[in-house]
Formats: sequence, structure tokens, C-alpha cells
Amino acid sequence: MKKGLLKVAAIAAVSVMAVMSLTGCRNGNELIMGTNAAFPPFEYTTTNGLVGEFDGIDVAIAKKIAEDNGKELKIENMQFEGLIAAVSTGKIDMAVAGMTADDERRQSVDFSDTYYIASQVMVVAADNTDINKAEDLKNNKKVGVVVGYTGEKIVTENLKIEPAVRTKRGIDAVQDVKNGKLDAVVIDSATGKALAEANGLKVVEDAEAFETEEYAIAVKKGNKELLEKINETLAKMKANGEIEKLAAEYDEKVAAEEN
Ligand code: ARG
Repeated sequence: MKKGLLKVAAIAAVSVMAVMSLTGCRNGNELIMGTNAAFPPFEYTTTNGLVGEFDGIDVAIAKKIAEDNGKELKIENMQFEGLIAAVSTGKIDMAVAGMTADDERRQSVDFSDTYYIASQVMVVAADNTDINKAEDLKNNKKVGVVVGYTGEKIVTENLKIEPAVRTKRGIDAVQDVKNGKLDAVVIDSATGKALAEANGLKVVEDAEAFETEEYAIAVKKGNKELLEKINETLAKMKANGEIEKLAAEYDEKVAAEEN
């Protein structure tokens, strides 16, 4: 009888644990950030990063959010495309990934206040002279984009260009510009600049064609509690100039690392 009860209790405990891991319930001391760490200066991997192998502006911001709330930051590195689903199913608490808050994503997740303003740029060969504005890409140019990034949408839907290449990471598309397979890569400004600099390429801007994009942190729809905490830390970091300082610091750090 006693043995039987123990068995039932053991099975119950195991099932509770299984359900917890399935539903994403977890250790209350952790704050789990999901990201795609192939997006310098916002997130990238390096030896001796700020949190394990991870470093970047977003990692520093997320660490601060965790600290302000007495939590330990844990980072899940995944494909960029999987982040929205990971947030909405509760696999991660927040996506901090240089993510542009746009209407399509707003249907699935809630976004924090903006913490950085970016826009798309074109990364081209250093000696390129015939790409000076976005329209020039329509001149039979081979254009690369990264799958699931806003740049992909802007190239296909706004500019109505069929990309020659869709890569998983910005660096792969940029390598194709370097080896002459592509004429240009359309990607976010700070990342485009970092990758261009590291690879002897240049960046062409076109403020008329490429609107500004606002980076924000995504949380599960309705998670007001976390959203408020995130916004409090962001407000503080914006007011005391910390975010601006991080942006300047990491621009330099990334340039120094990749050379
Ligand atoms: N801002 C772009 C977007 O939201 C690109 C973000 C890529 N971020 C990353 N961590 N790989 O689609």
C-alpha cells in the first residue's frame, strides 16, 4: 500500500516536471532572453562575453533588466525566424534581438518602448560606383537579404526586387559581396556598418527609400508585468545616456574584434 502510494507520488512528481518544462514554467530566478547572436553590435558570440559567450548592446541591456529585478539572465540562441514563436509559447521570456517593432509582429507579441532607431542600408564593394540609391538595385543588381529580417520584406515588397540570395546570417550575405557573387546586401544600419568595416566593404544609405525602424523588446502578449519592468529599465538607461554610451562602445569594440 505504502509502496503503491510512493509510486503514485513519484509518477505525479515526474509528470508535474514534464508539464512544467512543456509549458515553459521554470526556475523563478531566471529571466530568459532569446536572441539570434549573429547581429553585431547588438548580439554576437565571442570568447569572454558579457554573459557566457554572448556580448553586445542587447546583452548589456538585458543584463541590466535582469539585475534590476533580482534575476539571473539566461540566453537562448536561436534562429531569428523562431523568436516570435518562442516568445508567444513562453519558451523564452523576451526576445532581445535588434528586433524592429512592426505591425505584423505586433499581432503575435507585445513590444516594449523603443530603445534604438535604425534603418536599412546597402553594403556594397568598396570600389562600387553604380549603386548610390535603392532604385539602383533595380538595375539588374544581385541583391542579398537575410531570411526573416525586415530587409527581406523591404526588398521584396517595397522595392519589388527578387533577391538573388537569402542567407541565414548577415555575415554570409556580406561574404558574397566580398567575393563578387552579390552586388549588394540590404541589412540594418549598425550591423551593415560593422560587417562592411570588418570586410573592407562600404555602406550606401538612402534615407528616402529606407524608413526608420524602431528596435524594441518583445514579450508574450498580455505580459504587462514584465513589459513594465522592461520599460522601467529602458527609461532609466535612456535618461542617463547609458544606451547611447553602449552603442558607441560596442561600435568600437566590434570594429576592433573583427579586424
Ligand atoms: N531589425 C531586423 C528585424 O527586426 C533584423 C534583426 C536581426 N536580429 C538578429 N538578432 N539577428 O527584422
